[in-house]
Amino acid sequence: MGHWIWLRYYYLLCECDYITLTDKSELLFKRATSVIPSGVNSPIRYYPPYPFFVNSGFGSKMVTVDHKTYIDFCMGYGALLLGHAYPSLIDHIKDQLYEGTLFCVPTEMEVILAEKISSIIPAAEMTRILNTGLEATMTAIRLARAHTKKKKIVKLDGCYHGAHDYGLVQRNGLDCEGVPSSEGTTEEVASLTLLAEYNDVSSLENLIQNRDDIAGVIIEPVAANMGLVIPEKQYLSEVRRITQQNGVVLIFDEVVTGFRLSIGGASEFFGIKPDIITYAKAMGNGFPVAAVCGKKNLMELLSPRGNVYQASTYAGNPVSVTAALRTVQILEEIGNDLYPRITRTCDTLVAGIRDIIKNLGFKFTINSIGSMFQLFFTSDKVRNLTTAKKSDHVIFRRLYDQLLRKDIFIPPSQFETCFVSYVHTDDDIDRTLEAYGQALKEVKNHCG
Ligand SMILES: Cc1ncc(COP(=O)(O)O)c(C=O)c1O
Repeated sequence: MGHWIWLRYYYLLCECDYITLTDKSELLFKRATSVIPSGVNSPIRYYPPYPFFVNSGFGSKMVTVDHKTYIDFCMGYGALLLGHAYPSLIDHIKDQLYEGTLFCVPTEMEVILAEKISSIIPAAEMTRILNTGLEATMTAIRLARAHTKKKKIVKLDGCYHGAHDYGLVQRNGLDCEGVPSSEGTTEEVASLTLLAEYNDVSSLENLIQNRDDIAGVIIEPVAANMGLVIPEKQYLSEVRRITQQNGVVLIFDEVVTGFRLSIGGASEFFGIKPDIITYAKAMGNGFPVAAVCGKKNLMELLSPRGNVYQASTYAGNPVSVTAALRTVQILEEIGNDLYPRITRTCDTLVAGIRDIIKNLGFKFTINSIGSMFQLFFTSDKVRNLTTAKKSDHVIFRRLYDQLLRKDIFIPPSQFETCFVSYVHTDDDIDRTLEAYGQALKEVKNHCG
């Protein structure tokens, strides 16, 4: 509690009016910290001195317990492509609730969903429906190992694949062998994950060519967890070539990009056919549903017919499957309008921020693609984790604080991505640009 009081004092000194306008959130956070570890159910949700608590979300906005309305550019970390509580999705799910929420025996709609995914995504010859991105990537890794009878997995430094032990791995200096990034995971397990530099073909090629123990490469085709990093021209096709030539399974982790970058995700957008793909987030527009998909010969390794065990009580539950089916159906219906529109909205926002920030004389880089963008406070090109780390995090944090005061919510970390949804309006963008203008001026005055 001492820590808490000092933080509050610090923020008062910083004249942060955030804490004078969020009494109820502050009280809720105090209660939360005594019954929920760190007061939050996922670490990124904590932000000092305490996060705001939300009552409801509609369209592009969230309303807090303190009656503030934020324009949301976090959008469930990419899940809410159609925005909060999209009416024709919610109405559809309401009907399903009265039909039953969990059967734990197969349903026709699971078959329809898998067929639908196969019809949209050529690489998805078979699909197993799951609940979270973590389950999907963990299963994908297991399949790669079983298929190749090899143990090691290559991860691109800065990509995130969920909070399982094979993903919670970081580089030890320049060494490619992973070490745990969380206490409670083991060095033995971490050492099975090798790290290569994103957007660096030779780093991956050297690693793979010099070893014969690599089962698979897992990659975010557009990296959304080191800020936003875009694959350079030919990079993904080179990754495909290297994996193919060396008999290594290529896993595209499309938990963020799936259904968002295009209806067929990054594999469609870039025209690359990986061996396994994982989906979650935008697939269910805010409902917990995920999928691991891929080539038939790999997917058929899953039990009970195959020997790769994967199971979940809630996998394929009728509520999540209804959500995914309806979401995909909506995307098919409005996709011709949706994808160009969200790209235009994002481009307008990014162009506006670029103009404001240029005039103020900050060193900066903005990466954007489709409906995703992130601002870095460095003039260097941000093309991997090393360059993303060059961004001035103090400035980013001040910007976050200032935007919050002006009713704009972006993810509170430099290493996340901002998301535009189908329901962000021109008015939202005008208000957001006005807020960025004021916020950046105040940051400039503060930082000199
Ligand atoms: C690319 C990527 N893969 C996997 C995951 C894990 O998904 P989940 O949080 O649903 O377990 C995330 C989560 O943000 C992600 O961004």
